[in-house]
Amino acid sequence: LTDIRALLLSRIRDVADYPEPGVMFKDITPLLADPSAFTALTDALAEIVERTGATKVVGLEARGFILGAPVAVRAGVGFIPVRKAGKLPGATLSQAYDLEYGSAEIEVHAEDLTEVDRVLVVDDVLATGGTAEASLELIRRAGAEVAGLAVLMELAFLNGRTRLEPALAGAPLEALLTV
Ligand code: PRP
Ligand code: MG
Repeated sequence: LTDIRALLLSRIRDVADYPEPGVMFKDITPLLADPSAFTALTDALAEIVERTGATKVVGLEARGFILGAPVAVRAGVGFIPVRKAGKLPGATLSQAYDLEYGSAEIEVHAEDLTEVDRVLVVDDVLATGGTAEASLELIRRAGAEVAGLAVLMELAFLNGRTRLEPALAGAPLEALLTV
């Protein structure tokens, strides 16, 4: 482990059986409360913005907002929120996706992403990949280019990386930590 990875890992709390039995929840609130860890995370993700040549950061509600907004500021690019359905007042593009039980829908303001944009999606955790996959669909449907997907943590045993291969179409998936 590099120093930064060890620092980040030390600030993520495992909570057993939350939100339901059998699930190990990754709680990032200790990391957010530690300015040196949050700054190191922001710098590491901003470096990915620069390396991928992204011109915008998309953050996925809600935890992707917390991580993505300071990254956009640090990298000097715009921040675009992808919200859960029904929260954006303007004309939107919507994308439904399946959850373990039922389905969900996310939206983006249609005017926020166009053909000139190269977009890095930022989120905290890659689990099954359903949320990220839907966001990549939205970006492509808006006509923008996917620069990549960056997450703090990839839960490798759920195989989200494999699921995302078609939607990424060769764009990088960068996980700072793999558990
Ligand atoms: C969690 C997490 C990721 C997503 C990963 O978000 O923050 O966005 O699930 O799961 P997936 O890869 O299986 O789609 P969640 O919707 O629970 O809520 P929050 O970010 O609003 O807290
Ligand atoms: Mg989330």
